[in-house]
Amino acid sequence: MIHYMRLGGVPPKHHVTHRENGQLLMEQSMTRVGFDSTYTTLYFRTPPTDECMVKGMELPGFCPVKPIDEQLLHRRHIRTQDIKHEGDFLTGRRTVLMNDDVQVGIVKTAKPAGNAWFSNGAGDECWFAYDGGGVLESVYGVLPFKKHDYVIIPKGTPYRLLPESDRATFLVFESGTYIDVPKQFRNEAGQITMDAPFCHRDFRMPTELLKFDEARHGSGPYDLIVKFGNRLSVHEYQHFPWDIAGWDGFAYPVAFNIHDYQPRTGAIHLPPTIHITFAGRGFIICSFVPRKVDYYKNGDVQAIPCPYGHASVDCDEILYYVEGNFTSRKGIESESISLHPMGVPHGPHPGTYERSVGTDRTNELAVMCDTFKPLLLTDFADSIEDKEYHYSWVRRENEAIETSK
Ligand SMILES: [Fe+2]
Repeated sequence: MIHYMRLGGVPPKHHVTHRENGQLLMEQSMTRVGFDSTYTTLYFRTPPTDECMVKGMELPGFCPVKPIDEQLLHRRHIRTQDIKHEGDFLTGRRTVLMNDDVQVGIVKTAKPAGNAWFSNGAGDECWFAYDGGGVLESVYGVLPFKKHDYVIIPKGTPYRLLPESDRATFLVFESGTYIDVPKQFRNEAGQITMDAPFCHRDFRMPTELLKFDEARHGSGPYDLIVKFGNRLSVHEYQHFPWDIAGWDGFAYPVAFNIHDYQPRTGAIHLPPTIHITFAGRGFIICSFVPRKVDYYKNGDVQAIPCPYGHASVDCDEILYYVEGNFTSRKGIESESISLHPMGVPHGPHPGTYERSVGTDRTNELAVMCDTFKPLLLTDFADSIEDKEYHYSWVRRENEAIETSK
């Protein structure tokens, strides 16, 4: 995904014998877009194809999931801070917004990961660690992550996510296809360009191969829960199937910390797309990090750092608020998700626009996602929605306009 990587031992050519202690290892090529895009070749000690049992299962709040029956067109505020901690990285996932291209979920764990592994057969996932670090164990090895990391997990990757704390919170994007560095940040050789907001050195890869440990992984059978479409299937293995001898290629999980994102500031306000970090089909993920704000001044005329009113007629826009004061909003808190849909204009809350004039920094930290197809609330999101949010822009009679100090 980011660049070529090799971990462990691989033979000198694809599709030739590769033995360990006399045993012929099983090669598996993980390929994207048929055989036309990125691929990784892995060497398994135990073939990953010998499931001894397959059955269906359901995880309420995650899969299957459905949107609310009737969604009126208005601005939304989903209070994910009201979600209870329960379950683990898998059983605790709650999908709140969905369309054909992306699903947005929240995970708030209450216990360590169980022995079941998970694989998303529909698309790449992007996890954002809201409040702490941990380890991603996957077929590609061990990837440590830290607070405020994005962790990109390729489609079809068996994994377990083990936070350091039992009570950990994550924002999760589930793509219908891929999640990658935007094309405009690559040169013709695939290298990240020098004017991109990050460089190759900012991305962290698995540090070591996974070593099977019965105390850590259990004595079997081993369950892999696969999501495909709006259903889950459990694949049971008698032998631990993710203990591999080596791999090389371009598809593997990576971690990137939002504080390594290099923000841009213009003399006059730049559009929010300058915060783009990752892209998928039909959506982008953007990072709002602490930064200097717009600084134009000519006599009495000054830049307005707060975003202007906006009729985004082709995009839905969501923001997940992490830390700091968000320049344009009132009434939202850390962990809030706002949804401003296409079809109705949005803009700064009363007072925030005027108050921003003359400021020189913002300490806001937030993750934004813009989609080209409308996002639908799930039944679960409906149960934690602040129903008054749409009307929070209404200025009360005789309300004074706040100005900068
Ligand atoms: Fe906007």
